[in-house]
Amino acid sequence: MPHRVYIQTVGCQMNVLDSELAAADLMQVGYELVHSPREADTILYNTCSVRQHAEDKIYSALGRLKPLKQKRPDLIIGVMGCMAQKDRDAIFRRAPHVDLVVGPGQLGRLPEFIDRVRRGDNLSPLPTDFGPAPGGEPVARAVFQPSKLLEIGLDRASGRRKDISESFKTFNVNRTAAMRSVPHQALVRIAFGCDRFCAYCVVPRVRGPEQNRPAAEIEEEVRRLADGGCLEITLLGQTVNGYRDDSGGATVRLSDLLHRLHEIAGIRRLKFVTNHPNYMTDDLLAAMRDLPKVSPYLHVPAQSGANEILRRMKRGYTVEQYREMLERIREKIPQAAVASDFIVGFCGETEEEFQQTVELVRTARFKNSFIFKYSSRPGTKAAELYADDISEEVKRRRNNELLAVQNAICLEDNQPYLGRTVEILVEGPSKVARKQPPGAATVQLVGRTVHDRIVVFDGPRELIGKIIEVTIEKLDPFTLFGKLL
Ligand code: SAH
Ligand code: SF4
Ligand code: F3S
Repeated sequence: MPHRVYIQTVGCQMNVLDSELAAADLMQVGYELVHSPREADTILYNTCSVRQHAEDKIYSALGRLKPLKQKRPDLIIGVMGCMAQKDRDAIFRRAPHVDLVVGPGQLGRLPEFIDRVRRGDNLSPLPTDFGPAPGGEPVARAVFQPSKLLEIGLDRASGRRKDISESFKTFNVNRTAAMRSVPHQALVRIAFGCDRFCAYCVVPRVRGPEQNRPAAEIEEEVRRLADGGCLEITLLGQTVNGYRDDSGGATVRLSDLLHRLHEIAGIRRLKFVTNHPNYMTDDLLAAMRDLPKVSPYLHVPAQSGANEILRRMKRGYTVEQYREMLERIREKIPQAAVASDFIVGFCGETEEEFQQTVELVRTARFKNSFIFKYSSRPGTKAAELYADDISEEVKRRRNNELLAVQNAICLEDNQPYLGRTVEILVEGPSKVARKQPPGAATVQLVGRTVHDRIVVFDGPRELIGKIIEVTIEKLDPFTLFGKLL
């Protein structure tokens, strides 16, 4: 019987992509992908460390697996991704029934690692250059049992940049359309890591130094995806608009890359996330304006509307500069949809500073905003320099207040869609559809416009993966409800 693996993924699209690639590698060596932990002989969590809450969820899920592991000692439990990189051997201390911990840069060797654990051939002496565990706890070699495996990237302060970078790179492009929930959409990484070190953010530590993939390699991957029937490509990078490839002589910027990918037959839509305000250059906006396949959608987080907070966050711009950037976007691409992220309750955020953020949201009219309560992350500059002094209650209130302002804007900006016909890429059945009878001729389907607006409508499953037109009949702040033409 083939091995059965269950993979649960939390976190951002980087993790979604990593899980897809890891699953592809495992299937290549004969694994079957299953949809519940109970059916599996290998359970893997692809984890996120960006906020405490994301980590807590994984630790409780791991806790719930303990009785299962006691009953079935041959069950293999693995923690991979960003929390693996951040918490390292501390994971074995908190959850002693975990067998392997694999960082994002080591995922390309996952089948080999699981095999080693299964064979018991997995003694993993801790390399000395991992440095102290987060919070300065000494790395306790003694707690290691011979059945544990730890493979992670090098600490960012541990040596030569080249070696550190290498330890965060994984290229395994064994992917097939069958791995994706929507075979017609694919994520393509164009850059690894981040060098910006925003004061609150753990990503530069857990994803390593910024590295740009050679444009030719990206182009080849997209060509292969197009040959496999892929219609929509989303390019991924932590500061995706800062992409530069200098490896081939002349510099290739994101705008140049978009021009090259635009030529690939079969590709209908190109998107890219996440942007940093400081790299929103005119050549990129011109490419977005001039290339019809590039979706007029820009996710470019502001994080705060108060200059003192932006300074302490080390974001590298003022709110005036952010607004100027918005004006440039609106001027060049009047129909562009702009989305943002905000952190509320950052260290020392006064009520007045919070109101400046509210004011930014009120006036900028983002297509949507992702709003987060500040979560102090060990090892970051903010955790080191400032007290996490805004109470949970105040964070929650600010979160709700900002959300209410944004939601009202979403509703107003959705109104003009009423009665309009829009083009969507059908992504799959909606949550409601999962409760509808499996044999039904039509189910509720979900699609997305080029502006990243979600459209729900009833139709046959055969429409999944197609680009079609629907007429909008109803709406709420987050969803347009359509009818097939
Ligand atoms: N590279 C992207 C995304 C980083 S993480 C970027 O630079 O925009 C995604 C979002 O999580 C961030 O934009 C930020 O709003 C939020 N975030 C990051 N660290 C956080 C923290 N410590 N507490 C709360 N939210 C955080
Ligand atoms: Fe984190 Fe800032 Fe890098 Fe984004 S740009 S990943 S917020 S450090
Ligand atoms: Fe989380 Fe790692 Fe993404 S920390 S947000 S999964 S890069």
